[in-house]
This record gives sequence, structure tokens and C-alpha cells, in this order.
Amino acid sequence: MSSEYLPGLAGVPATKSNISSIDGEQGILAYRGYEIKELAEKSNFEETALLLLDGHLPSQAELDDFDCQLRAERRVKYKIRSIMKNLPPSGHPMEMLQTAVASLGMFYGGEEVLSDGISGNDIDYIHRMSVKIISRMATIVAMWEHIRNGYDAYEPRDDLSHAANFLYMLHGKEPDPLAVKIMDACLVLHAEHTINASTFAALVCSSTLASPFLVIAAAIGTLAGPLHGGANQRVVQMLEEIGRPENAKAWVEKQLAARKVVWGMGHREYKTKDPRATVLQKLMMEWGESQGTLSKQFETALALEEVCEEVLGPKGVYPNVDYYSGILYTEMGIAPDQFTPIFAVSRVAGWLAHWREQLSDNRIFRPTQIYTGEDIRSYVDIAQR
Ligand code: COA
Repeated sequence: MSSEYLPGLAGVPATKSNISSIDGEQGILAYRGYEIKELAEKSNFEETALLLLDGHLPSQAELDDFDCQLRAERRVKYKIRSIMKNLPPSGHPMEMLQTAVASLGMFYGGEEVLSDGISGNDIDYIHRMSVKIISRMATIVAMWEHIRNGYDAYEPRDDLSHAANFLYMLHGKEPDPLAVKIMDACLVLHAEHTINASTFAALVCSSTLASPFLVIAAAIGTLAGPLHGGANQRVVQMLEEIGRPENAKAWVEKQLAARKVVWGMGHREYKTKDPRATVLQKLMMEWGESQGTLSKQFETALALEEVCEEVLGPKGVYPNVDYYSGILYTEMGIAPDQFTPIFAVSRVAGWLAHWREQLSDNRIFRPTQIYTGEDIRSYVDIAQR
């Protein structure tokens, strides 16, 4: 057995999975073998989530049934609302989301069915909890926008798709059809991405047979950092700081001279442009055309990408998924600190697929370490120290 230490476990296989795959040289991401660019164009979030969970493209009847279940599970218990109302409005929504999801678990016991490997009953439980968590997380994130501003949240509607209902609850008005199309594509694009930090956290938690609510809470906490899901919020702050397309070159030079990163650029897996960034860029163009103008932020991002291609391209550093998503969300009137929670609203489908896969062949994670501390020594009485 190899005992070589690789920081960040870079390149170390931690599991076997048939959920998604990345070809970092060619810039291909596929869910269950279907390329993301095709899914973003032809599928929707409901179908993609079911594909991730069950492993195959659903029949019309299976999809209708799943869609119906999601719509029926949108309401959140008033006790969860009360918890949310008592949280500080200035706190980060990812902390709120982790709290709310972990608290939800207190209402839905039943994880004891998972203690003996997966059987028919377990699949039923896994499916029911997956529907509940996917559906409720969208409600919770949308509700928070109103609760933190001191208002009552909008009630979910069961006549709208997952993306449309989310936008309706977030903005409290009938959503624009193009905004729904874009939000739906964003949810598809972010739903799964092999074994990244948050999915690994979900796997470790799953392997202890903790409840799915705690599994997802662990993943939410891990997604929150700026080196993972939090980068899209940083991208928008960065573009604000740059201000105009003509400032991009000087800004990058200054940033790199100070050995600082360009947010939304670079990826451990991709050595070319992230295929999700390509789709998001096209959607941004479509949005700009519908508005009759490209936003200043988007124009600055295009100029910055050009500069970065010259200086970072040779290192295999290109735009990742976070580069354009924040700009799109800003255009849709979404607050920057809600970008990462929206990422979680989508990624929960992938996390739950990994939860199910982990349980199907479970062994608790217990890696080893290389001890770098003191040799065994005698305790020193406090008076002698
Ligand atoms: N800005 C500037 N330089 C970058 C960079 C960025 N965003 N990303 C990578 N580089 C540089 C590295 O410093 C390294 O330079 P060196 O060879 O001179 O030391 C080189 O490019 C290769 O980096 P690489 O090994 O491919 O990156 P990584 O796998 O260690 O890190 C990230 C990957 C995602 C952590 C890193 O690209 C990053 O911090 N990006 C910004 C944060 C972000 O957008 N995160 C969201 C990811 S979806």
C-alpha cells in the first residue's frame, strides 16, 4: 500500500463512481454519460436530477411522477421558518442554509433503515428524502431573501416548474420566461461535478450512516468557501473593482504581481475552458440581446477573459463555472451572497446521488496520517513549566 502523502489528495482516487465524468483536456463534463452541453440545452433540472439519482433518463411517466412529488414537497414547516426568523439577517445565507437543512432532519427520522445495506425499503426512503431535500432547499433559499429583509416569505406555487417557482418565490412576481430558461440551465449545469470537496464531504458523512439531512449539511458547509462554491460571489466583487473593460489588463498585471488569483479562473480538473462556462457565456449573450445591451460587468468579464487567455492560458488556466454565473445572477436581480446557496440548490441533486451510491457499497472512510508531532514524553506538572 502506498504511503505517499499528496496534499489535498490531488489525483488520489477516493471512491468508484458511475455518476459523472470529466475530460479535463477536452473540456467535457458528462452526467451518467450525457454531455452537459446537451443536457443544458435539451433537459431541465427535474429530469437531470432524476437522471443523477436513478442513473437513466426517465420515461415521461417517471418524470411526471417525480415532478409532481417535488411540487408537493415545497412547503416548509413553520418551525423551520421560526428558526430562520431568529437568525441574524446579516449572516451569510450559506450558514442559514446549513442550519435550516440540518434542522429539517429533526422532523424526519428513519435513517435506521440504512444500517443494513440497501434493500427495497431503503430505496423508497432514499427516494422520499431526496425529493424532500431537493424541493425544500429551493424554498428555503428563496424564503430567506424575504425573511432577512423583515417580510413574510411568498408561499410556493405548485403550478410552476422548479426553476420558475424558485424565481417566483425569490422575487415575488411572475418570472420572466427567459429568466426561467436561464435559471433552469444554471441548475442543470451545477447539479453534479464528480468528487469535488463538497461531494467528498458528503461521502465521508454518508459513510457513517448519518441522516441525509446531515450529509447535505456537511456538503453545504464545504461548498461555502471561496475556493469552491463561494468563488462566483468573488467574481462579481472583482468585476466591480475592475470597473471597465479597458482596466482589465492593468488589473490582472497588478493582481499577478501580488501573487493573487483571478477569481473564476482555473480548475483542478480542466486544463481548457470549463464547458459550463461556455454555456453560461452563451446564455449571458442571449440575455444581453433580450435587454438590448450587454451589461458593463459582462463586457468587463469578456475583456478580462481575453487578457487572462494570454497570461494564464499557457498554464492551463481558463474560466470555470463561476466566472459567468454570478454575472447572470446579478442581471437577474439576485443578491451576490445568494449565488452560492443557488449553487447548493442545484448541487444537492449530485450530493444525493453520491449518498445513494455510497450506501450501495459502504465502508466508513478512515484515512491515515503522517504524524509530525513530538515523541512520547512525560507530563510536566504545571508548577514546573
Ligand atoms: N489566478 C491566477 N493564477 C492562477 C489561477 C487563478 N485563478 N489559478 C491557477 N493559477 C496559477 C497557479 O498559481 C499556478 O501557477 P504556478 O505554476 O506559477 O505556481 C498555475 O496557475 C497552475 O495552477 P493549478 O495547479 O492548475 O491550480 P490548482 O489546481 O492548484 O488550483 C484552483 C485550482 C481552482 C484552486 C485555482 O485555480 C483557484 O484558486 N482559482 C480561483 C478560485 C476559483 O475560481 N475557484 C472556483 C473553482 S470552480
